[in-house]
Amino acid sequence: MSDKKPSLELAYSLKSVQDNRELYAAWAEDYDQEFASEMDYILPGRVAQIFLDVAGKGPVLDVGAGTGLVGHALAKLGLQPIDAMDLSRAMLDVASKKGIYRNLFAADITKPIEMVGETYQGIISSGTFTRGHVGPGGIDYLLPLAQKGAYFVLAINKIHWAEKGFSEKFEALVGSISKPVMCDIEIYGKNSKGGHSRDIGIVVIFQKL
Ligand SMILES: C[S@@+](CC[C@H](N)C(=O)[O-])C[C@H]1O[C@@H](n2cnc3c(N)ncnc32)[C@H](O)[C@@H]1O
Repeated sequence: MSDKKPSLELAYSLKSVQDNRELYAAWAEDYDQEFASEMDYILPGRVAQIFLDVAGKGPVLDVGAGTGLVGHALAKLGLQPIDAMDLSRAMLDVASKKGIYRNLFAADITKPIEMVGETYQGIISSGTFTRGHVGPGGIDYLLPLAQKGAYFVLAINKIHWAEKGFSEKFEALVGSISKPVMCDIEIYGKNSKGGHSRDIGIVVIFQKL
């Protein structure tokens, strides 16, 4: 990764897991203000609301939890307990200070994940299945962490979806998951500015069979 200042443009251009570690180590302390607030980043709140709307229950795992924006939204909606998993210890340190999560784990979801605790009734993610970050293979490593019947609500950047073959991945998962329901979702709100302000995601909702 270059030593440029963290930005959305830089995040979308990352090439490796190590690039992600370095970017988020540098971004963690300023992420909420410099990115989420300035970009009017509404995705975490929207994804949390969808999880509640489909009757998702805890315990829930927030995947690529970052600084805890999804956890914060879930907690405001009354959902507990919530655990956080992320590659970046620096992002988890920021999340931890908010006092939302029961447990916080560092893990790379592009590899099998060693879990010591319980399995989850819900798996939720925003901003992690995106350009320069995690591709469809990550879903394989999340399925063993979920109980049968657990709800998954995953937001996936729409360009990334097409480039990385998420449709093919969901076709290959027939038999392991319920028929996925998909809908477009805005990532940034009306106060967002710049070239990515109208970026769109796809929220995919399914249950583990
Ligand atoms: C754009 S942030 C999203 C954080 C939070 N969910 C949100 O919506 O604000 C992307 C997060 O994905 C995490 N991430 C990137 N690659 C990962 C991987 N291979 N395994 C786990 N987390 C990863 C990063 O560390 C970062 O915290």
